[in-house]
Amino acid sequence: MEKLLVADRISKSFGPTRALHDVNFELCGGEVVSVLGENGAGKSTLIKIISGVLAPDSGTLVIGGKPRRFARPRDAIAAGIAYIPQELAVVGSLTVAENLVLGSWPSRLGMTTPRAIIRRASEICERAQIDLPLRQQASTLRLGDLQEIEITRALARDARVILLDEPTAALSEAESSHLFSLIRSLTARGVGVIFVSHRLEEVAGISDRVCVLRNGRTAAVVDGGSASHADLVRYMVGDAPAVERKPRPPVQGPPVLSLRGLSVPGHAGVTGISLDVRPGEVVGVYGIRGSGAATLAECLGGELRHQSGELEVGGQTAALPRSPRAAARLGIAYIPPDRKRGGLFPNLSIGANLGLAHLRADSAGGFLLAGRERARAQAVLRDFHVAARSENQNAMTLSGGNQQKILVGGRLQSARRLLVAQEPTRGVDIGARREIHQHIRRFAEAGSAALLVTSDVEEAVDISDRVLVIRNGRLVAELAGDRLSQSSVVAAAAGEQGTGAAA
Ligand SMILES: Nc1ncnc2c1ncn2[C@@H]1O[C@H](COP(=O)(O)OP(=O)(O)OP(=O)(O)O)[C@@H](O)[C@H]1O
Ligand SMILES: [Mg+2]
Repeated sequence: MEKLLVADRISKSFGPTRALHDVNFELCGGEVVSVLGENGAGKSTLIKIISGVLAPDSGTLVIGGKPRRFARPRDAIAAGIAYIPQELAVVGSLTVAENLVLGSWPSRLGMTTPRAIIRRASEICERAQIDLPLRQQASTLRLGDLQEIEITRALARDARVILLDEPTAALSEAESSHLFSLIRSLTARGVGVIFVSHRLEEVAGISDRVCVLRNGRTAAVVDGGSASHADLVRYMVGDAPAVERKPRPPVQGPPVLSLRGLSVPGHAGVTGISLDVRPGEVVGVYGIRGSGAATLAECLGGELRHQSGELEVGGQTAALPRSPRAAARLGIAYIPPDRKRGGLFPNLSIGANLGLAHLRADSAGGFLLAGRERARAQAVLRDFHVAARSENQNAMTLSGGNQQKILVGGRLQSARRLLVAQEPTRGVDIGARREIHQHIRRFAEAGSAALLVTSDVEEAVDISDRVLVIRNGRLVAELAGDRLSQSSVVAAAAGEQGTGAAA
């Protein structure tokens, strides 16, 4: 097979951090090669070097047999390498066709007509051999469709190598499987795909080869089909994982939080949801995307305005929180699903990010007691094993998974009664996932409670005492004890009969 790309002994440091150390990597036409590794292992750095976003300190990239040095992403694009970022550059207010022709508007005597745009966009789709709803407005599409627009654009520019960095992290299962069939059709026509994911099933299912990075070095390169999960995990972390689900006795006592008849109108809204969360409990909430499960979390986190229903917190009637601050006053800490929007503040240090929620407690007479802020930050760095140089490091220079640990750690510190965590382990590796799960359980066991809203069914079943399933905005099942399993949860969410779920 033709070698599209060879990376030879690539090294890259950020200050004192050695992100990559003599890493080798190869990709042939028609292949999917996955890059696997714990948070901070160097995956994104490798992807960015191949796509010209970052320059390596040493080592060479050989593209199509020729050594190349990319000064900027445009050089990599010209060499047939397309990086599909997680933050997609699709403009929501434009149609799909307009997005496709962005940057190369068809014009005649300076005039562009809607027909000309559709015609040009159809040509692009034909060239890429991908069908898209050209007239639809991009803001109405799902994330998976937006990725497809980016991939179509790349193919129309004759990309031979497509780099996908955690493309499935925020996709539903149906969207992911659609993406995988798209990837297979790409490789069938000779395109090479580099795929980064933390989900081992996906990696094993799609990859011809798997390159495992550990602490910036190549830990192993194995055939996609032959390596077992246990092997891959061992290459990633150097030891085998544990933590089995232990059945827990049902929790008694007056609820920490009691919600009656919550309704939120609109898209992905909810109708008449009632639930109780008792001290010591982790309650999972599961629903497919658009089911309303996310809306429930946002509502308790104070992110919404137009909800109705009744709330009791600690035995006292309370108004539904209509701002994050109101939620905090009720003792509710909310972990949003997207650390970029509503999570961490860019350009602030780790310490400052963690200190924000405690500014008042950490100040005296109008002065910030820096020692307190530092101690808090250091506790999170230590408890969550964050790979950071110090609490003074800019939070945005951490790897994605380490940013997530900071977010979760900080919110856990400020939670008093209830932690509402939405997708708390999205994009984190197995080790960090285990740590985050343990912290959530420990937080509940110390007498508070947690509501875990997740689209990751394994996570819902592993750490919850019981799982509530939401479908079409309604609570359709509560599963616990012997009835709680991944398949019973998925079946209830999909609306299958015979799960014991009330419709
Ligand atoms: N711009 C930067 N400045 C300083 N350090 C950085 C920068 N980018 C990455 N690093 C560091 O380099 C190391 C590798 O980071 P990288 O983002 O490649 O990890 P990753 O494998 O993609 O992790 P994740 O699974 O969390 O996304 C980490 O220790 C990270 O903190
Ligand atoms: Mg990364």
